Amino acid sequence: MSSKSEQCTIGTAESDLPEDYLSELSETLETDYRAVVGGGVSPSKQADRRGVNTSTVCTNVKRATTKIIQRWRDGQATPHSTDQSKGYDIELVPIGGRNADGSPAAISKWTFETDLVRNRVCDHLSGRVLNACAGRTELPHPNIVRNDINGEMPNLDSQQDVATLRECYQDGAFDAVVFDPPFDLTQAETHYEGIHVSDITAARDELAELVAPGGVLIEFGWSSHSVSSWRGWEPEQMWLFQRGPTVPDVFATVDRKIQRTLL
Ligand SMILES: C[S@@+](CC[C@H](N)C(=O)[O-])C[C@H]1O[C@@H](n2cnc3c(N)ncnc32)[C@H](O)[C@@H]1O
Repeated sequence: MSSKSEQCTIGTAESDLPEDYLSELSETLETDYRAVVGGGVSPSKQADRRGVNTSTVCTNVKRATTKIIQRWRDGQATPHSTDQSKGYDIELVPIGGRNADGSPAAISKWTFETDLVRNRVCDHLSGRVLNACAGRTELPHPNIVRNDINGEMPNLDSQQDVATLRECYQDGAFDAVVFDPPFDLTQAETHYEGIHVSDITAARDELAELVAPGGVLIEFGWSSHSVSSWRGWEPEQMWLFQRGPTVPDVFATVDRKIQRTLL
């Protein structure tokens, strides 16, 4: 059982170790990082092996990780699991039933009707916002552009397929882009008259271009996979909406486009 002081362990697979720049660390940092992160050895065991304190090993692993992440942020390295497993919150949100006033506390086909979801999204909005698959729910934000391919949705500013939104808006035009599409074809057929996004990954690529440096892309779906696995983005928040024992959780991710400044 791990003690609290051992919780600097991050990542597990040897193959995830960033060989090309691990070798640039000092020998001690590299040794401890390899043992704890790559080898799955507990910091206290590694400390025993080397005849040092556990806190020394934890500090070394943390320093090595910080250096590696810094190199990744500087665009000099390839992201790997360590980058993606650090520095952001994952919140498990049990969700279901109805509120006292009858409004849904479960995720309905209009995802943001539920205040447990809507409030979380709104906390990450600032500046100019694009709600790319706006649906029926209006997010309470002063500067929001609503797009939906289905012209029956209320108060639309544009009625485009998300895949073609870059024809309407300039790259970097938004400080936040919200992407809540039908998650799959079955959902589209059951709830949205079969209207769907034909290639969610390609659409995400397009929407990512519309985000200004320093802005966020907020995405809902069946998977935790998001733009955070690309260079130039970092994960900020993930929610797992837990709907019950026999239905899949809904994932939502908030990723920030890294702002580069010239020193
Ligand atoms: C999950 S619902 C959005 C719900 C919305 N967030 C809400 O809370 O009301 C998905 C929406 O995506 C729209 N949609 C489906 N395919 C689209 C596409 N290719 N381009 C733009 N919108 C699309 C649907 O019409 C539907 O309104």
